[in-house]
Amino acid sequence: MADKQNNPSDGNTPIIQLIDVHKRFGTHVVLDGVNLSIPEGQTLVIIGASGVGKSVLIKHIVGLLQPDSGQVYYRGQRVDGLSEKKFSKLRRNFGYLFQLSALFDSMTAGQNVAFPVEQASKKSRAEIDRLVATKLRLVGLDGVQHKMPTELSGGQKKRVALARAIALDPEVILYDEPTTGLDPVRADVINELILRLKNNLRVTSIVVTHDLSTVFKVADRVAMLMGGNFIFDGTPTELRESTEPRVQRFISGRASEEDLLELDGAA
Ligand SMILES: Nc1ncnc2c1ncn2[C@@H]1O[C@H](COP(=O)(O)OP(=O)(O)OP(=O)(O)O)[C@@H](O)[C@H]1O
Ligand SMILES: [Mg+2]
Repeated sequence: MADKQNNPSDGNTPIIQLIDVHKRFGTHVVLDGVNLSIPEGQTLVIIGASGVGKSVLIKHIVGLLQPDSGQVYYRGQRVDGLSEKKFSKLRRNFGYLFQLSALFDSMTAGQNVAFPVEQASKKSRAEIDRLVATKLRLVGLDGVQHKMPTELSGGQKKRVALARAIALDPEVILYDEPTTGLDPVRADVINELILRLKNNLRVTSIVVTHDLSTVFKVADRVAMLMGGNFIFDGTPTELRESTEPRVQRFISGRASEEDLLELDGAA
């Protein structure tokens, strides 16, 4: 499936595009005709309640999940349905910070960052060591190369995982809940890093989060997923000013009558 939907050399071709993407697990519909177009260089933050399908959505972009129907494009090239072998070449363009940012526990921080580089290229040991040092410096972790993951704090582990995600100089970085589980100061360090990577590396970023500090600090654009589709898509200012009740409830952290029904019988 290599049909070209747009001419990739056309400056207006979005770097990522989803058209009418449907996905369900059994009878549970998670994505119900999602359309999304991301211009190169944009930082898009995706928000939405737990279990609404945010991780499922971004896994379609990197070929970890396939749509039941609909299409996924990368720079105008159709990528859904590609064989794993073909997709694995494309995957180099993506840095993925997983929700649980799992590091390999048996490897040092440096070996974790080196891993994707060793898999993808035949660089010399010295070159790889230099690259690892550069990436760790970029996330503010000079000198932890030889530490084991168990010796690092939660925030440091996230940053090592981020250094690993950017090891191959991706064009697109996907962050799945990058600040979850961190205190507000550590969370802000991650927000600053997202901004720094955007400014220094000119990447396109997709950030999935519940954390409104991330939305208001890093987003060029914010989209809210609910009921299988986006119910809001606009700037952070527009989000703040939105009168849509479901958006307001999310921003203010207020439970709806429906949310409270879940408590019935619990007390
Ligand atoms: N591989 C899978 N098989 C079956 N169901 C799945 C699978 N992956 C996700 N789901 C279901 O799809 C729904 C959406 O999951 P997803 O992980 O995308 O939610 P989320 O919005 O990322 O939530 P959270 O904010 O808690 O991470 C959930 O009900 C989940 O159980
Ligand atoms: Mg998730």
